[in-house]
Amino acid sequence: MKAITLNTLKSMKEQGHKIAVLTCYDSTFAKVANQAGIDALLVGDTLGMVLQGHDSTLPVTVEQMTYHTASVARGNEHAFLIADMPFMSYSSPEHALKNAAKLMQAGAHMVKLEGDLWLTESIKQLTQNGIPVCAHIGLTPQAVHVLGGFKVQGKTEEQAKHLLETAQQLAQAGAAMLLLECVPSNLAAKISKSIKIPVIGIGAGAETDAQVLVLHDMLGLNDKPAKFVQNFMVDKTSIKEAIESYVAAVKDGSFPALQHQYIF
Ligand code: KIV
Repeated sequence: MKAITLNTLKSMKEQGHKIAVLTCYDSTFAKVANQAGIDALLVGDTLGMVLQGHDSTLPVTVEQMTYHTASVARGNEHAFLIADMPFMSYSSPEHALKNAAKLMQAGAHMVKLEGDLWLTESIKQLTQNGIPVCAHIGLTPQAVHVLGGFKVQGKTEEQAKHLLETAQQLAQAGAAMLLLECVPSNLAAKISKSIKIPVIGIGAGAETDAQVLVLHDMLGLNDKPAKFVQNFMVDKTSIKEAIESYVAAVKDGSFPALQHQYIF
């Protein structure tokens, strides 16, 4: 199968074809997810929670992200590979460039940064140096202590306006992809329609261009799954089948269903 690139994902958005994304942290799961037809893999800093057992993503280091990115890259066949920049690894544009280079050299095709309008300069710096950026806005788990918990964002009119403008300005600054986490479905739909770059949603309704779930959540390994999670392992006899079923549900629009969405 032909390698999936940023251009492939952009044309999928233009043609209205949904993009299926999953987090992945090692080589074996990368191979299985590729065989199951996944479009993109995200080496998420959620590895701090699902692999290391922390209660947030804050303890994850650049060295750990580099190690897992290289592991996933070795098992990856054709999927587009995004790697998370961990907490405090992009506190200035220069710092961001130095650390993003490590992830790209480990095999990532794009890096993801969480934040707000303050990401603008780092996005420009990385993009000018040949590093595509995914900007992660809405619920940004690295800022959990500022946000006061893992809460839905953009519920008031003022917050929604701010998120919409932030998305547009970050796209204008050069972000090649956007990730929206835990925002009302109607806001996510409006943001996705208002920018040309692919928008990945998690807890952001059915109208984003792509969906992502944390691998361990969609395999039913989380005791307290969030509202937006579906366990795709139910009635399946293998992980490959579960991922195939996730990919099919994203592509035909049956996931996320209404019960997985924040509607206000
Ligand atoms: O780190 C991660 O796995 C993420 C997901 C929540 C999308 O950013």
